[in-house]
Amino acid sequence: MIEKIANAPEKAAERALQRCILPSCRASFGLRERIYVCSRCGGPLEIECELPKNANPGDAESLRKQWLARAASSDPRDRSGVWRYRELLPFEASARVVTLFEGNTPLYDAPRCAQYSGLLALRLKHQGCNPTGSFKDTGMTAAVTQAVLLGARTAICASTGNTAASLAAYSARAGLQCAILLPRGQITASKLAQSMDYGAAIFELDGNFDDCMRLIQELGDDPSIYVANSINPFRIEGQKTVAFELMQQCAWQVPDHIVVPGGNMGNSSALGKGFAELLGLGLLDRLPKLSVIQAEGSAPLAHLFAELQSKKSSRIADIPESLEPVAHPHTLATAIKIGAPVSWRKALRAVLESHGQIIAVSEQEIADAKAIIGRDGIGCEPASATTVAGIRKLVAANHIHSEESVVAVLTGHVLKDPDYVSHYHRGTLAESSGAAGDSTPSHLIAGKFRNAPERVAASKSTILDRLHHAK
Ligand code: F0G
Repeated sequence: MIEKIANAPEKAAERALQRCILPSCRASFGLRERIYVCSRCGGPLEIECELPKNANPGDAESLRKQWLARAASSDPRDRSGVWRYRELLPFEASARVVTLFEGNTPLYDAPRCAQYSGLLALRLKHQGCNPTGSFKDTGMTAAVTQAVLLGARTAICASTGNTAASLAAYSARAGLQCAILLPRGQITASKLAQSMDYGAAIFELDGNFDDCMRLIQELGDDPSIYVANSINPFRIEGQKTVAFELMQQCAWQVPDHIVVPGGNMGNSSALGKGFAELLGLGLLDRLPKLSVIQAEGSAPLAHLFAELQSKKSSRIADIPESLEPVAHPHTLATAIKIGAPVSWRKALRAVLESHGQIIAVSEQEIADAKAIIGRDGIGCEPASATTVAGIRKLVAANHIHSEESVVAVLTGHVLKDPDYVSHYHRGTLAESSGAAGDSTPSHLIAGKFRNAPERVAASKSTILDRLHHAK
């Protein structure tokens, strides 16, 4: 579905540019330049929009009212939880947007997760309720809209599965060719099935996600190709709107903490940008502390963060030139099995600016947290459960206090990885060593909250007996 934006400021694109985030460079580029890193120094790019507040402080309040009114509008363009916030997006009013009505995801109370984590209350923002079942859709609507504007022939991405499914769907909507590069044998069947169904050209490579990502950066030089990974700053623009929608759902009361999983670090970068823009607009009075949780076997940024903390370095100026990658990342949360995240610098900056934390959690902690989320009646994929596992650790370490308000962002739907769920509950979930090329299961993860099916005789009395004696 391609929709025309109505009512957006006519000159929106003139108010925005692409800028290198490195303090030593800060080069700027037009929105129509098809670049993914700074063409002067190779640094990361982000979109800089002149915020309406700079024109008139009263605009901020009227924006809030307008966004609220749009949520009740039957205009299809307002039904997207991304394009509803179009004043803060770098697209002209005449842009034809590619939408699947992404966003509009629920914010749930999760009392069992709260108790498990040591909190009085915990809310879960479920981005797995997006059209393709993951948070990627909020970014992909913007990236594919930009691909169409630039006249690209092919949209491409490297993926651990969700980016691919999302790009495949949005490309299909736009009539664009879609190509995806996947690490062979490391993608869940459900995610792969989605990309097949949406008609993408699927290339399975021997290697891991980081190898696929390196190849993408080479392919991005081809003029027919548009790269839709989160290195692309337009992706981040779409994903930042999650902060806007969340704040509306919180009635603009800033939570003390926002906790997200970390893989390639696009999500954390985007949320950080979204909250910073709201603060700049005067719509927030402070930033929530943004914390990122990685899986222990794939935690390069958590390692760097710990190193910075041990040196008591927490200034943006202390961010080093490079990140030491994890050469052979491993985790059963395959979505975040990433050793060299491309957006690490933006994410680290957002965490430091908001005084959050970056930590890692074990496979056992992820698996148990996932089962507890399930007990609240909310399904998610393993990577999403790093949040509740991480919150529990951050509470124990006194970084989060029991009475503080906390929102965890769940990133993917439970049906993205049903095998994992089934193995956990049957007690057969096993991790491999992580050594190069070794996928032999070596370490069994205990299903502490196991709930395996039981084979019984087909008799009323047996079933009633089981139910009466159930714990
Ligand atoms: N959760 C899920 C379910 C994901 O699919 C991903 C990333 C993340 C968390 C991490 O988010 O990369 O923005 O830090 N999946 C990417 C993919 C890498 O290809 O689908 P991030």
